[in-house]
Amino acid sequence: MKILNKERLIDSGGVKIGMLEILSPEIASKARPGQFIVLMASERGERIPLTVVERDFIKGTIKLIFQEAGLTTKMLGAMKTGDSLYSLVGPLGHPTEIKKYGKVIIVGGGVGSAEIYPVARAMKEAGNHVTTILGARSGSLLILENELKGACDEFYVATDDGSYGRKGFTTDILEELLSKGKYDLVYSVGPIPMMKRSSMVTKKFNAKTIVSLNAIMVDATGMCGCCRVTVGGKTYFSCVDGPEFDASLVDWEELTKRNRIYDDKEKHICKLDALQK
Ligand code: FAD
Ligand code: FES
Ligand code: MG
Repeated sequence: MKILNKERLIDSGGVKIGMLEILSPEIASKARPGQFIVLMASERGERIPLTVVERDFIKGTIKLIFQEAGLTTKMLGAMKTGDSLYSLVGPLGHPTEIKKYGKVIIVGGGVGSAEIYPVARAMKEAGNHVTTILGARSGSLLILENELKGACDEFYVATDDGSYGRKGFTTDILEELLSKGKYDLVYSVGPIPMMKRSSMVTKKFNAKTIVSLNAIMVDATGMCGCCRVTVGGKTYFSCVDGPEFDASLVDWEELTKRNRIYDDKEKHICKLDALQK
């Protein structure tokens, strides 16, 4: 699991986003849009899921994009070209259902922009009219803007501080578009509040909406139960039943609470340099 290329995409205002290109011919030959891998950065580290953003089955490589959030993503941020991950499992989860829907809106917030990229490309290739809405706190934190522009018919940007694109939220633009015309599918990936708000907006217009949930995962093969989510009143394991679900049926309060379960423990966990030894 050698890192063939490591790049820092963003280092601004305390936000660090990196890209890893990893040699993994088996995963590269099988991964489809919407799927993810689980990696361990070191032997004593934890397992974390990351979306397969791109794959090159001729070179046998996959690309991952990660925002430094806590210990493990900081470890990834400290790794260099030529280093190796301790383990890599995948592809995992159900792929996105790619077909000709008609008019599709794809919404990406923060590092969710990386997660929507393979889906936007595949939806466009399947003959859909694709409208992409990208959101970030500030213009300096946007990723994959040119790549996403090249994979869609209409493109919008919203920033919280108004430094680039429209001032406001992705969901303001989403609501405007839905009030002007009919769309056949909305696909939204980003922070939980953004996906929840997307769902509230699209419910008003009766627009089918898919979200990719970022439930906490451990084994990611359906054995530990850590990634339990409630959708339509039923319990699902996000790793094997998802990670994509109908947004209108997701219990957002439960997901928000469960994703904060280990916050305190994460703060007290052993130091980054200790894990790297
Ligand atoms: P921590 O301090 O341990 O955690 C920070 C926050 O990340 C926690 O509050 C929790 O909400 C979440 N988190 C922590 N551990 C896990 C875990 N094992 N599984 C899921 N979430 C966790 N992030 C990206 O930057 N790029 C991606 O492409 C991406 N794809 C994802 C795909 C899926 C299917 C899922 C479920 C999550 C994805 N994430 C992605 C989120 C990423 O897994 C977390 O940011 C990462 O696990 C944080 O780990 P940490 O040790 O650095 O931070
Ligand atoms: Fe263990 Fe899904 S991560 S069941
Ligand atoms: Mg962690």
